[in-house]
Amino acid sequence: MANKQHGFFSHQTLEKNIGLMIVASILVVSFAGLVQIVPLFFQHSTTQAVAGVEPYDALRLMGRDVYIREGCVGCHSQQVRMLQAEVQRYGAYSEAAESVFDHPFLWGSKRTGPDLARVGERYSDEWHRIHLRDPRLVVPESNMPSYPWLQHALLTGQNVQDRMRALRKLGVPYSDAEIEAAPQAIAGKTEEDALVAYLQGLGVGLRKARQTEAEQARQQAAQPAAGQGD
Ligand code: HEC
Repeated sequence: MANKQHGFFSHQTLEKNIGLMIVASILVVSFAGLVQIVPLFFQHSTTQAVAGVEPYDALRLMGRDVYIREGCVGCHSQQVRMLQAEVQRYGAYSEAAESVFDHPFLWGSKRTGPDLARVGERYSDEWHRIHLRDPRLVVPESNMPSYPWLQHALLTGQNVQDRMRALRKLGVPYSDAEIEAAPQAIAGKTEEDALVAYLQGLGVGLRKARQTEAEQARQQAAQPAAGQGD
């Protein structure tokens, strides 16, 4: 019987020494994690806005803050998953690059109410106002809370310019002119106006960009066929 010697860096050393095993496992898992996560910080599909997605204008930005303050994210997700049932119900599935201007993101994980990622322009502004003041006036079986005070709360006192400058530090490309004009843009508006503007924009930019792309592709496909005749 040959008594095979094994060196220090063998599997046997690792399997017999639990401390070493733990350290080695941590190293392997950390490395694997880095390999998976680090590229996401550099990939265009996760770091650059997809066509049609623009930074929030001043009014929608304030509306987003009302959405956060009122805890809407506790009942509504903003993330359509890649499942056929979801795409049929809500619209195109969500992409990472749609959220590049969201700090923090509002994907949510609870759906007491429907997903809102594609709700923009699905209803009229008036519908949203009635629904926010008393959801049961338009959806009798709704258990969503009423938010009647938003229509009376004016958007004054909140420093929208500070918010925009803070977001600019995080990479949202607001220009000096946009920041300069922001207080004017929200003057005299209520929190309800802002929230409705925010909701009406959800998913709209991307949808329109995709429609334009599809239209262009159709036209390009039609051209050679028209030229060839038969
Ligand atoms: C307690 C859970 C709950 C909270 C909190 C809540 N909602 Fe809802 N929401 C619902 C439910 C349930 C529905 C579906 C019934 C209805 O349309 O009212 C709904 C429906 C909606 C719809 C219609 C969506 C569609 O596609 O028909 C919008 C828009 C909406 N909510 C916005 C908001 C906003 C904005 C807030 C925060 C100010 C909010 N919700 C807070 C439960 C909630």
